Amino acid sequence: MSVADTSTAAPNVTEAAAALQGQLHVQASGQVRGLDERIFGFNRLLIGIVKGSIDAAYSYQDDGTLRQDVRRFYVLETVARVPYFAYLSVLHLRETLGERDLRETMRLHYAEADNELHHLLIMEALGGNATAFDRTLARTMAFFYYWYVVGVYVLSPEAAYHLSELIEDHAYDTYDDFLGEG
Ligand SMILES: [Fe+2]
Repeated sequence: MSVADTSTAAPNVTEAAAALQGQLHVQASGQVRGLDERIFGFNRLLIGIVKGSIDAAYSYQDDGTLRQDVRRFYVLETVARVPYFAYLSVLHLRETLGERDLRETMRLHYAEADNELHHLLIMEALGGNATAFDRTLARTMAFFYYWYVVGVYVLSPEAAYHLSELIEDHAYDTYDDFLGEG
């Protein structure tokens, strides 16, 4: 493929985001199924446990240095990018099974995963992954979280997006608190 072909085939993330927002709006305007409500509740519980565990683990070891914050951010960024490639895994499977209208949604989630990868690379460059404890904690959580998100996305994409919303809200609060301390 030529360079020109590549540029014309480049994902239009803005259009994809608008399309997905439209789909979610249509879903949200419909009746929320009982299954969704139960998953929503479990999502809140799960994120509360994950957040509480990370906060407890790092406040226990807190020595007041920037390095300490970067270690915690490394764990958060490792876990926070999981949903996007979990969505992509399921969407690839659905595409393999015959669905043909997933392209824009997949491009959006690929862009999101790429964006989150850069956050993770920044934390690694700052030394967030220097200890075996942090790497083990982050990767173990990411491994199990991946399978949970895959399962939820199969059952209810809306509930899976709710999970991402909770994670991103937590990330926003975490960085906002950090900036407030500075
Ligand atoms: Fe991030």
